[in-house]
Amino acid sequence: MRDVKLVDIFNHHITRKYVIRSGLSHAIAVSYHSFRLGKERGLDVDSAAKAGFLHDIGHYTWYKDGKWNYDLYKQNDIHAIKGAERAHKLLIRLGENPIKAKEIALAILFHTDSFLPGGNVIRTPLQTVIKLADEKDEEEGGLHHTRTLSIKRALESLERLDQRIDHLKQN
Ligand SMILES: [Fe+2]
Repeated sequence: MRDVKLVDIFNHHITRKYVIRSGLSHAIAVSYHSFRLGKERGLDVDSAAKAGFLHDIGHYTWYKDGKWNYDLYKQNDIHAIKGAERAHKLLIRLGENPIKAKEIALAILFHTDSFLPGGNVIRTPLQTVIKLADEKDEEEGGLHHTRTLSIKRALESLERLDQRIDHLKQN
């Protein structure tokens, strides 16, 4: 039995605010990719799907004169750090197992090395999965952050993924 489901995460107002801001469609696509890759590699699919769904929860929009400024983003972005902390707090509040909450937070922290000066991280298998899953859904010019998806469709997708996770956990 899982302590927290993807739908529980999605229904929290913190998720609604930040995950929608960074792209709901992208978050769900990465969650599905993470689930699949995690399954292939024999990892905990629940942690993989959650980390994939929340990986960009720390994003901030870097605007200058009403327009997205990519240089400003490159220079100042710490979304992986913010995201790890935000996701951890959210998961603990929802009643997630602390060991799992930490594992998910670290997978979010290391899903990109954009914030690290050296850029070289030795990743655990779960951290690698989240990075690969994110790259699978990336579009030129950050367009993956702006694809839209209705709340209703998002909920249906997450419910389906929850069912797949529950099914695997039972067997
Ligand atoms: Fe992403």
